[in-house]
Amino acid sequence: MTHASTADAGTVRQTAGAKANIPPRRMDFEFADDTKRYWYKNSPFLTTFWSTLSTLFPEGETFFVDSVRNYRKDITDPLLKAQVSGFIGQEAMHSKEHKAFNDLAEKHGFPANNLDRDLGILLRFARKALPKKIQLAITVALEHYTAILAEQLLRDPSHQSNIEDPEALKLWMWHALEENEHKIVAYDVYNLVGGGYFTRVLTMLIVTFFFFTVVGIGHIRMLWADRKLFDVWGNLKGFWYLWSPKGLFPKLLPQYLDFFKPGFHPNDHDTVQLLDDWREKLLGKDGMLADQIKNPQRA
Ligand SMILES: [Fe+2]
Ligand SMILES: [Fe+2]
Repeated sequence: MTHASTADAGTVRQTAGAKANIPPRRMDFEFADDTKRYWYKNSPFLTTFWSTLSTLFPEGETFFVDSVRNYRKDITDPLLKAQVSGFIGQEAMHSKEHKAFNDLAEKHGFPANNLDRDLGILLRFARKALPKKIQLAITVALEHYTAILAEQLLRDPSHQSNIEDPEALKLWMWHALEENEHKIVAYDVYNLVGGGYFTRVLTMLIVTFFFFTVVGIGHIRMLWADRKLFDVWGNLKGFWYLWSPKGLFPKLLPQYLDFFKPGFHPNDHDTVQLLDDWREKLLGKDGMLADQIKNPQRA
């Protein structure tokens, strides 16, 4: 399935998703060619880290959509059906807009398209080799990652000041908002179709290994292309930002570990007020996305 056709499918289903408070919002970000090369904290290491994450979204989120769509016929509950529609529409739009952002990285000489292509090969293999239930469990695990990382982006104002390009800031905050709006969907579908605890947590452990392997290799390829792989001081500073005791990943650890509780549900992480605040900041009168959103009546 192409990214374009996925986006079209999402557009058709806007109304159901909007009714379930997961409205797919049609965006059209324009990343200028003269966008700052090192748009995160003026750091090659951190910019290439976030850019590596961005290269995972077009293929990764298409995989998420397909793994949920495999079970669509089994869903009879009208609310969950509508939530699935919203989820599919939102993820399709994320794939499209991150593709545009990745094209900008490519113009700056980063191998974004190669990383996107290679992940596509890996995921095509996963689709063929793995049972559908495991594909859905992979999505549940990675949706947990995206939800807690996105929550940190929304809660911690340092990210917002670190993203030094206004268009990039809008992209990441919009995506962060919607990841939390739809964070329960894959999880609830997994429970509905009889996905169990043991498979969920075992898959999470394996996914964690693959996630950091794929991101690590991608990040190294980005730094190599940027001739910054051996910028020892710059890379150590960036590594400290991600992995020091108060760094990005250690701060996520408690929420990551919550996933291993037998009765865990994504709504245990209460983001209701946070999302209300950010919907106002992004979509309210004079909100940050006023120029981008193409279907404001459904936002
Ligand atoms: Fe997404
Ligand atoms: Fe998502």
